[in-house]
Amino acid sequence: MPVIVGSVARMTKLEIKTVGVIGSGIMGSGIAEVISKSGIDVVIRSRSAETAQATKAAIDSSLNKQLVKAKITQEEKDSAMSHVTVTNKLEDLANCDLIIESAVEDLATKQELFSQLDKIVKPSCVLSTNTSTLPVIEMAKSTNRPDKVCGIHFFNPAVLMPLVEVVRPITASDETIAFANEFVKACAKDAVQVVDRAGFIVNALLFPYLNNAIAMFEAGTASMEDIDVAMKGGCNFPMGPFALLDLVGLDTSVAILEALHAEFKSPTLEPRPMLKKLVEQGKLGRKSKQGFYSY
Ligand SMILES: NC(=O)c1ccc[n+]([C@@H]2O[C@H](COP(=O)([O-])OP(=O)(O)OC[C@H]3O[C@@H](n4cnc5c(N)ncnc54)[C@H](O)[C@@H]3O)[C@@H](O)[C@H]2O)c1
Repeated sequence: MPVIVGSVARMTKLEIKTVGVIGSGIMGSGIAEVISKSGIDVVIRSRSAETAQATKAAIDSSLNKQLVKAKITQEEKDSAMSHVTVTNKLEDLANCDLIIESAVEDLATKQELFSQLDKIVKPSCVLSTNTSTLPVIEMAKSTNRPDKVCGIHFFNPAVLMPLVEVVRPITASDETIAFANEFVKACAKDAVQVVDRAGFIVNALLFPYLNNAIAMFEAGTASMEDIDVAMKGGCNFPMGPFALLDLVGLDTSVAILEALHAEFKSPTLEPRPMLKKLVEQGKLGRKSKQGFYSY
């Protein structure tokens, strides 16, 4: 469990009753499920009423699978679902204590959302982003509360992965960062602290490797199946690079590499042509049932 030390811990005065989640894709849905299981009310905002209802159904189905496997009890499932509300209106997030923005990995979209949310939510509300790589400071600058903006970066699948990166832009107050850590702790996740630099810790180290795996396949060194088998068997990784890219989403992977390339400039961070081509063809990985592999 994360430990929040010293004076920073004592600065947390905010109570977390309701969290708003923006975006109902792979991550938004998973994060909302984690929050619901922690006993905190969660309001998921999707752009349409249909996708909002579909997200609630997806959470119900995910909890059912855990129930069938005896990982949770019926009472725990019912309790989690009682904390979930969905909406297609940003205004319905007005009473939230914390927002986690988890929309598409596109800075302009996120900045527009932060600007709108800043006008809707109460003054004490902390605005956070689940961005994988984009500068959190640019979202903070879109608001009139830059001291209350930070990154709370979950990993995929959010229900299973224990880590959350708490990302600190230079504008964030100690209280905001302490609050974010309290929230991560309430979600029974492990927090690490990182400054606002592209890719934070994990993706800054992971994506050069993933992009290099594609370069190796493009060069004809080995098949993607053998590269995946090699990295599982040779490095004890739970999955190989191509399976992982498909899990992350190939469009999201392009956006992550572009953000890393924009900051660090290394040519090895430019998204590989094969990755870009798959995205152009609408092959986005598991979420579209076709990426490097078929699902
Ligand atoms: N996929 C991963 O492995 C992973 C892991 C950690 C963090 N993230 C981050 O989480 C965020 C969401 O990624 P995802 O994998 O869930 O993507 P996704 O493609 O599954 O979902 C994206 C969501 O954004 C919504 N959206 C698109 N345009 C929008 C707009 N203009 N306004 C509001 N919502 C909009 C879509 O409707 C969808 O619900 C991104 O910032 C991504 O970098 C992704």
